[in-house]
Amino acid sequence: MQVGIDQISFFSPNYYIDMVDLALARDQDPNKYLVGIGQSQQAVIPPTQDAVTMAANAAEPILTDLDRQQLDLIIFATESGVDHSKSAAAYLQRLLNIQPFARTIEIKQACYAGTYGLMQARDYVELNPTKKVLVVASDIARYGLRTGGEVTQGGGAVAMMVTANPRIMTLERDNQFMTKEVMDFWRPTYATEARVDGKFSNNVYQEFFVELWERYRKVTGKDINDFKAFVFHLPYTKMGLKGLRQILPEADADQQARLLAQFEASRLDNKKFGNLYTGSLYLSLLSLLRHSTDLVAGDRIGLFSYGSGAEGEFYSGIIQADYQQMLVPNQLDDLLAERIKLSIPEYEAMFQATLNGAADRQLDGAADPALYVLTGLQQEQRQYEKQ
Ligand code: COA
Repeated sequence: MQVGIDQISFFSPNYYIDMVDLALARDQDPNKYLVGIGQSQQAVIPPTQDAVTMAANAAEPILTDLDRQQLDLIIFATESGVDHSKSAAAYLQRLLNIQPFARTIEIKQACYAGTYGLMQARDYVELNPTKKVLVVASDIARYGLRTGGEVTQGGGAVAMMVTANPRIMTLERDNQFMTKEVMDFWRPTYATEARVDGKFSNNVYQEFFVELWERYRKVTGKDINDFKAFVFHLPYTKMGLKGLRQILPEADADQQARLLAQFEASRLDNKKFGNLYTGSLYLSLLSLLRHSTDLVAGDRIGLFSYGSGAEGEFYSGIIQADYQQMLVPNQLDDLLAERIKLSIPEYEAMFQATLNGAADRQLDGAADPALYVLTGLQQEQRQYEKQ
């Protein structure tokens, strides 16, 4: 029996900044951001959105009434949790009106947790083939104004339904994974912005990819020619390109050109939304599904997941015949068309207005066109609404 991703859906709030504007405001050459980093726009998260609301907005389009009655496992991957104790998945279960006899759990391992969630879901469905599992990866990438990491911010959520006989992509049992305790990126529990040793983080990412790829080849006997595309965790899209370039010499010129073309398809959407932390790899997969012009059933896709701290995993999935029909129609095009561009001073004000601290606060949820919004804080309890 095959198990894998049957549906996939995305959400990001309706504000963005242009990377040329940011570069000019920070006295940088725009090409450093556009080409050197590989980002053209960046999602800006208003105070009325957080990891919970973004996850709910991403999951809503792929849930039927029957799913809400039958789902019994929700896995919420995030490193932007809203509470040190209570799981974001519990909020999600109520907002999405999922029946009470469900397990709900939040998991964290920097940008890697979404992959762990998918693998847990796969194992659960293998044991319980009639079940579905909802996996969401939802994050806000925050480094701080005028920091080196500012150009690699962003945010959004990816929701995936894992089932038997999936109609988008199987999750193959060829995973290679590793952990090494390093301080490349972290966020102390008192901080709202990440700390990062950017150059070190880039190096660890690249080392993990090569090591896992070599291990994968050894264990499975497969090589670069067995793959139609490689998709990467993309904190910024140049990062994945650097990863891919490390193994390209193993292919002949034609295969190199094909893999590079697929990589371009897999980063088009990430260029516009920025870093999603846990969701970045799966936005890149969605971008590949949306923009590649020659994916066919049976194509093998390699997926490299990386979470600072650090944990990495490489595995493959097989594209299914109906994958195009299973995408939410026009979802990303509509999100992009409806986004409002902010000036840099407007973005800076919104960045600083994020819900923080213990004081009661009322937010204007009606000003946010999303279905699920955060409307404030009362007695230190987040107020979520479906509108
Ligand atoms: N035109 C084209 N490219 C240019 C350029 C220009 N005018 N100016 C610079 N560049 C290139 C550089 O050559 C470099 O390319 P390379 O990485 O291939 O060598 C790239 O742009 C970045 O320049 P750099 O000087 O290294 O930028 P930086 O010191 O501002 O740091 C990051 C960049 C990515 C390290 C920094 O933004 C960061 O720390 N981000 C967070 C990292 C992260 O997300 N970590 C978690 C990983 S999972």
